[in-house]
Amino acid sequence: MRRLFPCLAALAASACAPEPPPAGSERPAQTPEPAADAPGLPGHAPEHFGFGSAASPERVAIWDIDVKPDGEGLPPGSGSVADGRRVYEVSCLQCHGPTGTEGPNDRLVSASEWEQWPPGRAVGMYWPYATTLFDYTRRAMPQTTPGTLSDDEVYAVVAYVLHLNGLVPADAVLDAEALAAIEMPARERFVPDNRTGGPVVR
Ligand code: HEC
Repeated sequence: MRRLFPCLAALAASACAPEPPPAGSERPAQTPEPAADAPGLPGHAPEHFGFGSAASPERVAIWDIDVKPDGEGLPPGSGSVADGRRVYEVSCLQCHGPTGTEGPNDRLVSASEWEQWPPGRAVGMYWPYATTLFDYTRRAMPQTTPGTLSDDEVYAVVAYVLHLNGLVPADAVLDAEALAAIEMPARERFVPDNRTGGPVVR
C-alpha cells in the first residue's frame, strides 16, 4: 500500500495539470488604440455602423416633452375632473384601483398623514408639483401604453387624480396656467439640489 500512494499522487497531479488554451484564444499581442476622437471605440471601428438615421427636429420634438416645475413646457389644452374620471376608469383603474388606493400598483391617493411612517408616495402627500405630475403621467402612464393619451386627456386625468386627493374641486377644469398655480402640500418637503459640482452633501 505504501508504494501505491506516491503513484496515485503522481497520477492525480498530471490529471489536474492545466490544459493549454485552445488555438486562437490567445489575447492579441497588441490591443488596438482607441481613436482620438471616439473614446471607447477601437481604432479599427468603422466610421458608420450602417443602422439608424439622423435625428430630425420632428423626431426630437416627439421626445422633447418635458414639463418643468414652473409649468414651462406644458402644452395647450385643458381637461375637467368629470372627463378625467372617464379616462381614469378606462386607462388607470385596473392598476391603481377604483379610488386610487386599492392597487395592485402604486397608491395615488393619500390615506395617511405625512407624519405617519412609512409615508408612501401618494400624489397628495409626496408630489411637490402638479406640473410634474402632468409630465410623468404623459410620458409614463398608462404603464403598458404610455403616450396614447391626448394632452386634453392627460389634463383631465391629472385633474381627477388631484380631485381624488382633495386638492381641486369636482368642477375644476385644468389648463397650463391653472395647473402651475396649484400649491401641492409637499411643496416645502423637498430641498432644491443646487450643488455646484463639488462633493457637497446636502
Ligand atoms: C398596467 C398598469 C398601470 C396602468 C394601466 C396605469 N398605471 Fe400608473 N403606475 C403603474 C406602476 C407599476 C407604477 C409604479 C411605476 C414605478 O414606480 O416606476 C405606476 C405609477 C404611477 C404614478 C406615480 C405614483 C407614485 O408613486 O407617486 C402615477 C401618478 C400614476 N401611475 C398615474 C397613472 C394614471 C393617471 C394612469 C391612467 C392614465 C395610470 N397610472 C395607469 C401601473 C399602471
